[in-house]
Amino acid sequence: MAHLTGVAKARYVSRMFGRIARRYDLLNGMLSWCQAQSWRRAAAELAAPGLNGPALDVATGTGDLAFELARLGRGQVVALDFNQEMLALARAKAAETDWEDRLTFVLGDAHELPFPDHAFASATIAFGLRNVISPPRAFAELRRVVATGGRIVCLELVQPSMGLTAAFYHLYLDRIVPHLGRCVSGDGEAYRYLPESVRAFLTARQLQELMEGAGLRGVWYQTLNWGTVAIHVGCK
Ligand SMILES: C[S@@+](CC[C@H](N)C(=O)[O-])C[C@H]1O[C@@H](n2cnc3c(N)ncnc32)[C@H](O)[C@@H]1O
Repeated sequence: MAHLTGVAKARYVSRMFGRIARRYDLLNGMLSWCQAQSWRRAAAELAAPGLNGPALDVATGTGDLAFELARLGRGQVVALDFNQEMLALARAKAAETDWEDRLTFVLGDAHELPFPDHAFASATIAFGLRNVISPPRAFAELRRVVATGGRIVCLELVQPSMGLTAAFYHLYLDRIVPHLGRCVSGDGEAYRYLPESVRAFLTARQLQELMEGAGLRGVWYQTLNWGTVAIHVGCK
């Protein structure tokens, strides 16, 4: 997988999420030790307050961050993903919430968002940036569709700084994740991709620089889970 770039990577990623969609929530909970939802809630709490207008959640997957945004805010929430299977599950889950009428699901690509400039008060992306072909392009698009003064929040797995944590984390990623992923999802390849994609990704500091390079102002971040997870916030 590491050798794939461009359209080939996008196709690979979309097919992989299509294959694991039905087991995604279960495995996401297991592999994060049931913490992923609290991280999404923290990201939503940073994106929502004080802003009026619709919110956008890109790479929404099965929709959990979009539901948090709907729970916290009063406006519409648009949830976008490029994989039909993940989006279908998000729609089905939305029907079980109290916010279904405030949620809209859109099939689309993070690199070419199908929305006009300045359309949203905030935009979020959770565990999605690592999977896109071009993170700078994705941030440029997020910035384009957010109104001036709006907020962009990114929740992502990052490279922990060196030391004991990094050693244990890589052991966990390389030994436990593929094994558990294969047993629960039946898809060994997808859960070999996860450690690879984390290894190939950025540190929290590098991600901050990327957001600043995309023209976002006042970018800051907090790390969670011994520095393996980060929430970055930037303003347009
Ligand atoms: C690891 S899942 C994260 C889902 C969700 N945000 C969460 O918090 O669990 C990554 C999602 O990103 C989507 N994705 C990857 N590349 C994308 C792109 N270029 N445009 C839109 N969605 C994309 C995948 O289809 C998948 O649903």
